[in-house]
Amino acid sequence: MKILVVGGGGREHAIIKKIKENPAVTEIFACPGNGGIAKDAVCVDIGAKDLDKIADFAQKEQIDFCVVAPDDPLVLGLVDLLESKGIPCFGPDKKAAILEGSKVFSKDLMKKYNIPTARYEVFEDADAAIEYIRTQNEFPTVIKADGLALGKGVIIAESMEQAEDAVKSIMEDKLFGDSGNHIVVEEFLTGPEVSVLSFTDGKTVVPMISSMDHKRALDGDKGLNTGGMGTVAPNPYYTEEIAKICMDTIFLPTMQAMNQEGRTFKGCLYFGLMLTPKGPKVIEYNCRFGDPETQVVLPLLKTDLLTVMQAVHDETLSDLNVEFSSDSAACVIVASGGYPQSYKKGCLMDFGNAESLPDITVYHAGTALKDGQLVTAGGRVLGVTATGANLPTALKKAYSAVSEISFDGAFCRKDIGARALQALRK
Ligand code: AMP
Ligand code: GLY
Repeated sequence: MKILVVGGGGREHAIIKKIKENPAVTEIFACPGNGGIAKDAVCVDIGAKDLDKIADFAQKEQIDFCVVAPDDPLVLGLVDLLESKGIPCFGPDKKAAILEGSKVFSKDLMKKYNIPTARYEVFEDADAAIEYIRTQNEFPTVIKADGLALGKGVIIAESMEQAEDAVKSIMEDKLFGDSGNHIVVEEFLTGPEVSVLSFTDGKTVVPMISSMDHKRALDGDKGLNTGGMGTVAPNPYYTEEIAKICMDTIFLPTMQAMNQEGRTFKGCLYFGLMLTPKGPKVIEYNCRFGDPETQVVLPLLKTDLLTVMQAVHDETLSDLNVEFSSDSAACVIVASGGYPQSYKKGCLMDFGNAESLPDITVYHAGTALKDGQLVTAGGRVLGVTATGANLPTALKKAYSAVSEISFDGAFCRKDIGARALQALRK
């Protein structure tokens, strides 16, 4: 089988490595891939948003199955385009990907179907939004741009002044472009956060092992929001009891709501949850695998990934028994100095013994090949994942592999998993 994976980050590297385990797979292509992915797949110099070029390439190469991993091409309708040309895909079509593509859509869906989420109002006018926030007078308050914004479209305002700045920068200065034509103003929730990725074919939802992301750039959850600086799985806050509540009040109702709306969701549906004192609530939906959640979830998947993805496509997911290992996994992101703001690219990298240590996989997120050598090419450069019998062991192994790696300006958070360990001790 010839497989095409669209995307070029650590998440895609993890998907590719897992798909490679299937003996029927003869060739994997990545559009565009990256320097490290080039060891596991043929990288094709076509960007993930270049829909027509991807479709032409897939047809020319007679691709048997395509995995569309990032949000942008899903929201733009790449799956619709490929399927119309007879190429089976894993990923939601455009109508279903709106669940991530529009926060207004997802909030209204949750309200209509009684799916627990933060209280909210939608605005298309900055003055009306500011007036509402002033009347509510509850801080912090949360302001979200409607559309995709590279994971940066959420502003938590601590005061009226900050809220006014946020509304104006999103709606008037167009900080996130047209994504800010509408905004959601919502209630600030508190509690531990849990990411649950799930496989769904519109008939069945199969939650994967839970995980915990670390979104801020610096130790102690300080600094700016990033795409994610590290993850652990499973998430100790996500007990069996909570999992049951989530299945009954969130996962199944979401799948059914999308069916009712004529927007059947097939692919990986990501539930960003907050375990509030009033029960689990949805913070956000994503229409794809999380990054870097995938880098801890897939290494623990025991069932063949391609088989699961094909079952999702064929709507036969209920026939499969999707199993996860009882081990734990930890992923520490090694980033370029300055990330998530400006940073240097093109730095030579030294991996030491990291890649030959037991139970370690180094996923490449922002690397490139230059004259045959690996150099840095992004903010998040590597995701170093370790598996182990328990979380402390996995974390120890991950950090010891990280200490082998060096490049100019490299940094990582030193406290990935610290909160999870605290929860385990309680
Ligand atoms: P998102 O891009 O929607 O994942 O939001 C980024 C982060 O903002 C989340 O991971 C939460 O930590 C935080 N956040 C989003 N919505 C809320 C909310 N209603 N209450 C508290 N924190 C929130
Ligand atoms: N790690 C969060 C995300 O993928 O959106």
